[in-house]
Amino acid sequence: MDVSVPVSEAAADLPALTAPAGRPFGVYIHVPFCATRCGYCDFNTYTAAELGDSSPDGWLAALRTELELAAAHLGEVPEVSTVFVGGGTPSLLGAAGLAGVLDAVRARFQLAADAEVTTEANPESTSPEFFAALRTAGYTRVSLGMQSTAAHVLKALDRMHSPGRAVDAAREARRAGFDHVNLDLIYGTPGERDDDLRGSLDAVLAAGVDHVSAYALIVEEGTALARRVRRGELPAPDDDVLARRYELIDRHLGGAGFAWYEVSNWSRPGGECRHNMGYWNGGQWWGAGPGAHGYVAATRWWNVKHPATYAAVLAGRRLPVADFENLSEGTAHVEDVMLRVRMRAGLPLAALSAAERTRAAIAIDDGLLRADGGAVVLTDRGRLLADAVVRSLLD
Ligand SMILES: C[S@@+](CC[C@H](N)C(=O)[O-])C[C@H]1O[C@@H](n2cnc3c(N)ncnc32)[C@H](O)[C@@H]1O
Ligand code: SF4
Repeated sequence: MDVSVPVSEAAADLPALTAPAGRPFGVYIHVPFCATRCGYCDFNTYTAAELGDSSPDGWLAALRTELELAAAHLGEVPEVSTVFVGGGTPSLLGAAGLAGVLDAVRARFQLAADAEVTTEANPESTSPEFFAALRTAGYTRVSLGMQSTAAHVLKALDRMHSPGRAVDAAREARRAGFDHVNLDLIYGTPGERDDDLRGSLDAVLAAGVDHVSAYALIVEEGTALARRVRRGELPAPDDDVLARRYELIDRHLGGAGFAWYEVSNWSRPGGECRHNMGYWNGGQWWGAGPGAHGYVAATRWWNVKHPATYAAVLAGRRLPVADFENLSEGTAHVEDVMLRVRMRAGLPLAALSAAERTRAAIAIDDGLLRADGGAVVLTDRGRLLADAVVRSLLD
């Protein structure tokens, strides 16, 4: 058991920030707790055994201080259009804990009347009462990690819930009054067959949700999954299989009234996640919690990762910023292209340099992009090769 605190995580001084008006402003809160660690996951999250004394209560107290210091740092505090509580496993806090998180945001930031307020949740730590209390607290959207309905796939992913629990949880959330519910799927897990994925998609549709995120399994370095693949116990996901599965997902969801609005995200009309759209569309946000990233004006920063370091820095009433960078115009442009080309709305030609427009024309000839009004949009084949399209545009 490792309960040591990394001493190398020193706090840096964040420069003064003024949030430009007219761009959506979000708040992201990172909850760094999980009951167990899934073998594929490299997110900044910790089990109780790894944390020792760093309890969720201590984290919430530190979070309140961070939000107080954040509002003071911003000076003129912009109205918040979206809040996203992610993890880790936010549902481990329970409905009362999550209500406390939203209260902490409201204590320092003014939420827009129509603010989107999302929390992620793991199916096994939810119930009808949990969703009802979240709704009362002011949450408007729930994102559930379903991954698959095939028992052998869930086992390969080390997921703790039973195959049917995510769908039941989504229905409970809908019954509690949530119009906006997302289910996350992972495809390409070793041992998954096309029929397993079809079964998961049928279950998603039966659950009556308005949003689906589907991610190709990434074998992240340093995870248990990477070690198993390296030892030859599991095959690495195969690119051709991943492409076929992506097409299957798109067809299945498309036939049921969902449309893609970002390469890995599909929704019914009006079900798009506004918070994530902010990340992809040049919005700005304050990221609070251990390891959270923020982006305001041209400054990006990231917090210290370990919850104990986070709490210790905040106990000294300093922002828990590990480091920051001021993005040059060139870097901001590269990131803009990388993110916006993945969206259904596409990349406005006006945002591209002359050389990039020439390269976009070549990608159109190659059938990877198509012109749509004043923008270029990925074709179906282009979506399968989105990273290569980005590289070819930026050269
Ligand atoms: C980091 S989790 C946080 C929410 C929650 N704890 C859960 O597991 O659903 C958010 C989503 O990221 C996706 N994810 C995490 N690691 C991944 C990986 N290595 N490859 C593909 N998707 C991954 C999963 O679909 C997961 O639902
Ligand atoms: S996938 Fe979700 S539940 Fe699993 S370890 Fe990562 S954050 Fe925790």
